[in-house]
Amino acid sequence: MAHGISHARQIEFWIARISDLPALPDVVHQTIKVVNNPNSSIRQISETLSQDPSLSTRVLRLANSSYYAIPGGAASIERAVTALGIDTVSQMVFTAAVFSQFDLQSKEPFDVRSFWKHSLGVAVASETIASEIGFRDTAMIYLAGLVHDIGKIAHFQIAKDEWLTVCEHAKRNNLTALESEKELGIVTHDHLGYELVRQWNLPLLIQEVVRSHHDPGIFSGATQINVNPQAVGIVYLANLLTHSLKFGSSGHVTVRNPSKEIVKRILGNEAALLHVARSTRTALQRTIPLFESMFDSPSSASA
Ligand SMILES: [Fe+2]
Ligand SMILES: [Fe+2]
Repeated sequence: MAHGISHARQIEFWIARISDLPALPDVVHQTIKVVNNPNSSIRQISETLSQDPSLSTRVLRLANSSYYAIPGGAASIERAVTALGIDTVSQMVFTAAVFSQFDLQSKEPFDVRSFWKHSLGVAVASETIASEIGFRDTAMIYLAGLVHDIGKIAHFQIAKDEWLTVCEHAKRNNLTALESEKELGIVTHDHLGYELVRQWNLPLLIQEVVRSHHDPGIFSGATQINVNPQAVGIVYLANLLTHSLKFGSSGHVTVRNPSKEIVKRILGNEAALLHVARSTRTALQRTIPLFESMFDSPSSASA
């Protein structure tokens, strides 16, 4: 569908396909409300989760991974919240919910497991950078990192062969996925992901991150000015760091260096990048058991 079709027609085609994808479980929206309102109670999350046993099971599986090491384990969502706090359990809800939207088998050269490892890595790296620079909205920045490349998996689900062509072309020509999409004249994953998270009704901060994670517009003079430039810059850096630390992969191996200007704007000075890279590497190493628990069989969740 890429060749000989106008850009406007392509976008029309993709918006129609995106609207066929399933909506996010309601508990994600409930959780976002709870995270954004310090006066609300975890009971809202627990009640909504109880209506969705498969998601509850997935959340408890994550809570019981050795990553969190809850003494005696967590048999209920309430117990997990008491032990780990609302923000952490919210992140598990996001991870379990987003991950379960796309139940796909890998197909050469696109490795779905490695894609999710990259996505989880960028979520954790974004949270790490956010805490280094005092960006307070950690649950939202985690979710933004988690879904930054959601357009890729959506593309794979909707038009598998075309997405595999993007990956092949990137591999053969040492390009990033974005460069490959542009060279082939195919809709880019930042655009596609933006349409999906808009359809999912995720907050503006998430929409802006997904749309601009390769081009933090406000810094580069692009026409789209973001309301949350710091969040966009954090995920931009987290993505490049996660690639350079080779934590997972998202359809390509070629990595570009971050813009010096953005490093300075987000971290204060260029030298800080080394420090942030070190903390990110440590955080990613710690994340491996969490990632592995995402792929456990459901029967292992009841511990
Ligand atoms: Fe991307
Ligand atoms: Fe990425």
